[in-house]
Formats: sequence, C-alpha cells, structure tokens
Amino acid sequence: MTRRNIFLIGPMGAGKTTAGKELAKTLGMVFVDSDHEIEQHTGANIPLIFELEGETGFRTRERSMIGELTQRENIVLATGGGAVLDKDNRAHLSSRGYVVYLRANIEQLFNRTSKDPHRPLLKTADPKAKLRELMETRAPLYEEIADLILDTDGHTPKWLVKKIIAARPS
Ligand code: S3P
Repeated sequence: MTRRNIFLIGPMGAGKTTAGKELAKTLGMVFVDSDHEIEQHTGANIPLIFELEGETGFRTRERSMIGELTQRENIVLATGGGAVLDKDNRAHLSSRGYVVYLRANIEQLFNRTSKDPHRPLLKTADPKAKLRELMETRAPLYEEIADLILDTDGHTPKWLVKKIIAARPS
C-alpha cells in the first residue's frame, strides 16, 4: 500500500469520527468523514437524503463518495456504518489504505446513538434490536476487510489512537 491512508470502519456509535479526528491531528493527516462529504456535496443532510431517495439512493451516493475519497492520499477517513455492504467499497477500502475496524458491544452502540436523531436507520420502535440485526449482517463484512480490529468498549479515543499508530505499517 502506497497511500498511507487510514480507513475507519464499524457500526454507528463505535466512535469512528471522534477517534478519526484525534488520529488525524496526532499524525498530521487530513480527517475526512464520508457522511459529512455526502452532505456537503448534496446540500442535504443524511436524514433528508433517506427521506427523499430512500436507503438505495443514499447507498448510491455513498458508493461514489467512497470511490472518490479512497483515491486521496494521506487521509484518515471515517466511513458510514453501512459502507461495507457494497462490494466495490470493500475492495477500494482494503486496497487503498489501512483498514481499522472499531468494534463495540450492542449496549455501547445503543447508548452512544440513542439521543442522536441523525441516524434514520435507528428511527424504529426498537433501535437496540435494529442494531443487533445490522451487526449480524455486517460484522462478517467488517472482519473481512479489517487489517486491525479494536474493541472500543471502555477505552478513550486517545487509547485507540495509540493502538492504531503502534499497529499500522510504517
Ligand atoms: C449508516 C450509518 C451512518 C450513516 C447512515 C447509515 C448505517 O453513519 O452513513 O445513517 O447504515 O449504519 P455513522 O456510522 O457515521 O453513524
């Protein structure tokens, strides 16, 4: 791998954005959040994109954004929790950077997402069951492309950053 990118994958609420910002700051790299880029590019926020175009429309936008962002160099990229569902995204992420899977248990994910209205997939009667269902499908996909898997439960972003820096190829 030549581009020295670091790609953070994992479910909603795993702390990809917080850890990613800290990691980029520590390494002097540029932090990019794919959801944020999609919002900038479309001029609509994620819930509105889901409302107007459905999940399928959002995934199309996400695929083209991941395709573009993974071609950059020297970035720390936080991906949306569902980015790994797409085969092309998985191929781009694994071939164009060092992939870190931030893992967390359902309880933590629930606590970290429960007060955030910004996640359309969790606007359901039982968000904890939804998180569990999403993880059943996605955990194998996260694992498939991860170069490093880190359990975030009980750890600070600073601890995660140290682990990532120690583990990534120099
Ligand atoms: C999604 C996760 C969100 C966002 C969208 C869909 C998912 O990103 O892309 O709401 O399918 O898990 P975060 O993981 O940053 O919350």
